[in-house]
Amino acid sequence: MPTSDAFVELAGQRVVLRTFVPADLTDQYINWLNDPQTMRWSNQRFRHHDRASCELFLAHFAQGPSHFLSIRESLTGFALGTATAYVSLPHGTADVGILLGERSFWGLGYGQDAWNTLLEWLSAQPKIRKITAGTLACNKPMVRLIEKSGMQLEGTRRSQEIVEGNEEDILLYARFRRDTA
Ligand SMILES: CC(C)(COP(=O)(O)OP(=O)(O)OC[C@H]1O[C@@H](n2cnc3c(N)ncnc32)[C@H](O)[C@@H]1OP(=O)(O)O)[C@@H](O)C(=O)NCCC(=O)NCCS
Repeated sequence: MPTSDAFVELAGQRVVLRTFVPADLTDQYINWLNDPQTMRWSNQRFRHHDRASCELFLAHFAQGPSHFLSIRESLTGFALGTATAYVSLPHGTADVGILLGERSFWGLGYGQDAWNTLLEWLSAQPKIRKITAGTLACNKPMVRLIEKSGMQLEGTRRSQEIVEGNEEDILLYARFRRDTA
């Protein structure tokens, strides 16, 4: 398993995922994080992001085994979003997340391609035995995307968060490497 200082580049069908580097910290990226519609189902909506907060976030990945990746359209190299994989080597787990920041690209299959590509790569890492992900139950695109990647529901945190005035469940999913080998 490479540490995050080893540059990662993964090719999907329509996207490329590669290690997020300081040059990727653009106004476009910061605008994604401050877009209320994009962040509707993320706890990032409670914060304001700027260059300094993003630099701090990026710095978390400078050491250690976790990954922060830039998702780009394969054909153009255009930045579409980001993905994270928080790796615990003692436990052999990776918790994954995704943000497709460019809303005009939603619903076109880019998120699924990026997600599947990241999961396939993580599944091939000998030190990762279990991949996990969580989402609000009301985030229907995310639920669909996770379930299509073969992850199984392993738990529900009932009425865990308040979203737009409603109590919402958090769904916890997992996929074991042994099930995909
Ligand atoms: C969630 C997200 C990654 C999905 O990416 P995407 O590229 O729009 O999704 P895809 O086009 O790959 O679609 C994946 C599946 O979700 C379905 N889907 C997409 N939008 C949907 C919607 N509004 N309602 C229901 N299903 C939807 C698609 O139809 C597809 O399933 P299908 O192949 O059976 O048709 C993207 O919308 C996003 O980044 N949202 C904001 C950030 C976020 O919520 N991240 C997750 C936090 S846990």
